[in-house]
Amino acid sequence: MKDDSQILVRVRNLKKYFPIQEGWLINRQVGAVKAVDDVSFDIRKGETLGVVGESGCGKSTTGRAILHLDPPTAGEVLIDGKDLSRMTTVERRKFRPRAQMIFQDSYASLNPRHSVGSIIAEPMVIHTDMAPDKMRQRVMDLLEMVGLNPNHYQRFPHEFSGGQRQRINIARALSLNPKFVVCDEPISALDVSIQAQVINLFEDLQKDLGLTYLFIAHDLSMVQHISDRVAIMYLGKIMELTSRENLFENPLHPYTRSLISAVPIPDPIKERQRTRILLKDEVPSPADPPRGCVFSTRCPQVESICTRTAPPWKEIHSDHFASCHFV
Ligand SMILES: Nc1ncnc2c1ncn2[C@@H]1O[C@H](COP(=O)(O)OP(=O)(O)OP(=O)(O)O)[C@@H](O)[C@H]1O
Ligand SMILES: [Mg+2]
Repeated sequence: MKDDSQILVRVRNLKKYFPIQEGWLINRQVGAVKAVDDVSFDIRKGETLGVVGESGCGKSTTGRAILHLDPPTAGEVLIDGKDLSRMTTVERRKFRPRAQMIFQDSYASLNPRHSVGSIIAEPMVIHTDMAPDKMRQRVMDLLEMVGLNPNHYQRFPHEFSGGQRQRINIARALSLNPKFVVCDEPISALDVSIQAQVINLFEDLQKDLGLTYLFIAHDLSMVQHISDRVAIMYLGKIMELTSRENLFENPLHPYTRSLISAVPIPDPIKERQRTRILLKDEVPSPADPPRGCVFSTRCPQVESICTRTAPPWKEIHSDHFASCHFV
């Protein structure tokens, strides 16, 4: 593990279970969806940690649990050395501005009846006592920072394109100078031609403002350019975590190898030689995960130990973590 002073977010044994209830008059808990099941990792200051996995594997829940938007079921999360679960409501409210989240659906997260100016100003209205003229200047600066016309603050969300609306969301998320931003599939809903521009914006803002990102995506091709390190999630657990270079050059986990085999290669000769590793069956339900290794029902290299014992989360090489009996 690297020197602790380099770590901004520290996550240990994080779990988030959603109770499954049954009954008509009296609800009784009959099980739990293990959306996030014992994940541990660090996010270093100024880095982008990509989180990749299929739909339903627990990426958004991880992001929300880290920020305490949905309090974790168990485990420890420290952001800048502070444990949100030990804070009082007042302390947590004071802390909120330092960690923000940006969502996939740019339109749903913007109130259509409010002007862009008031949408971006809202966090400042709640958390600061800034004077109105100062606040308007700050809104205009933020609009400019995200590549929009600062004079458009009186316009409404429907007057902007999808990419521009995502820029508005970014401006609002940055209004209180956060250190850490969870970006939950912020480019998935955008046209491919716009995706690269928004990724560039995220990168420029990171450089200029010293931001740290947890960047969620459902496929590797979306995070491979922006991430310094990548965590591969499957059914509530992290299968592998390492630098982007290591992940592509020396993938250790069979699930990572199957995901990499799905990423197109720009070189046409290599692209023709690429063989996809297709997995059998469907992803099991997180309400009833397989015994042993959660990936065992689909793993091309499964052995009998995999269906009996869960593999430990291990640092295989320096800064290269994986959870598989055979690495
Ligand atoms: N509030 C909730 N109540 C019950 N179950 C939930 C809740 N939120 C998420 N889940 C379940 O937890 C699991 C993980 O969901 P999550 O949204 O974190 O997945 P995801 O990886 O973000 O998927 P996607 O790529 O589709 O966004 C899913 O099985 C989902 O149905
Ligand atoms: Mg999600």
